[in-house]
Amino acid sequence: MAASDEADGVEARTTTRRPRAPASPRRGAGSQGADTPSGRRAPRGGRRRRPDPHLGRPATGVVVTGGASGIGRATCVALAEVGRPVAVWDINGDGATQVAQHCADEYGVTTIGVEVDVSNTDALTGATQRTIGVVEKIGGLVHAAGIGGPGPVTLLSDESWDAVLDVNLRAGAMLTKQLHPNLRAAGPGSAVVYISSVEAFFGSTFLAAYCASKAGLLGLTRSAAHTLGADGIRVNAVCPGAVDTPLLAPLLAMPGMRETFEQRTPLGRVAQPADIARVVRFLLSDDAAFITGASVVVDGGLTAVAGV
Ligand SMILES: NC(=O)c1ccc[n+]([C@@H]2O[C@H](COP(=O)([O-])OP(=O)(O)OC[C@H]3O[C@@H](n4cnc5c(N)ncnc54)[C@H](O)[C@@H]3O)[C@@H](O)[C@H]2O)c1
Repeated sequence: MAASDEADGVEARTTTRRPRAPASPRRGAGSQGADTPSGRRAPRGGRRRRPDPHLGRPATGVVVTGGASGIGRATCVALAEVGRPVAVWDINGDGATQVAQHCADEYGVTTIGVEVDVSNTDALTGATQRTIGVVEKIGGLVHAAGIGGPGPVTLLSDESWDAVLDVNLRAGAMLTKQLHPNLRAAGPGSAVVYISSVEAFFGSTFLAAYCASKAGLLGLTRSAAHTLGADGIRVNAVCPGAVDTPLLAPLLAMPGMRETFEQRTPLGRVAQPADIARVVRFLLSDDAAFITGASVVVDGGLTAVAGV
């Protein structure tokens, strides 16, 4: 099902994906092909959904910005794997739709793909309305949408600074404000995770605005944790090191760069998106019930020994 309409002067395409019935039952797949009591289709047999870590409560949905690619995509899959509905928000509408469909097909969860530019605050209300039309309760937000660059401080322009800060930092704050009523309504245990970076701690010369945006997210994490704690909503940040995603691909493709990261990292490799996604999933779960205002570094030891 797909719909197209105008909201606040910005077109936002919404594509709703519900689990698709498998073509034929597979060995060991149990009730595959039959509707579950919730009305959802059982997942395909190739991958089996694992028990929900959201202890004792129905799994609430999670909005994942930047969900069409890289860390955001892996987060959508990791959440679907444990039965949490996911709303895939991305400026890449086709990519969001594909990830939503994949999660529905593989894990039998309710999903929606929403095309939205999260730096456009006016578009967030429409995206939220479309999401709650499908994902009834929003108990989580992951702000993974992000862009790099644009260069050293000496070459900045107002436009290039704003372009990075608007997506990486301002959108995180505005998304939190926008979804706060939904997170509160979903009950205690709701949680927010911002994807920051080890660049919040280091001064890469070519990433002036990026470094500022990621350090800013850590300040936002602490302030928002203070404010939302009264509602039982936790707010944390994850700071990845080098992760093998399209964002980092041009850098990793430079001669010797991947090897340099591997040599500087105690665990001897660049992270895969799933390495980060599993930590995000933990922070969204009740297993992290007493963690808020924290910045969790997931970098294979990079910052512990040398930096970037
Ligand atoms: N890859 C790394 O090494 C690394 C390291 C540390 C932190 N991070 C952070 O992780 C997050 C995810 O990065 P990634 O590496 O997965 O990159 P990626 O390019 O694979 O994914 C980023 C996604 O964000 C989306 N996006 C960009 N601008 C948007 C906007 N205005 N509105 C909605 N969606 C938008 C893109 O379409 C894309 O799908 C980013 O915040 C990035 O800064 C990445």
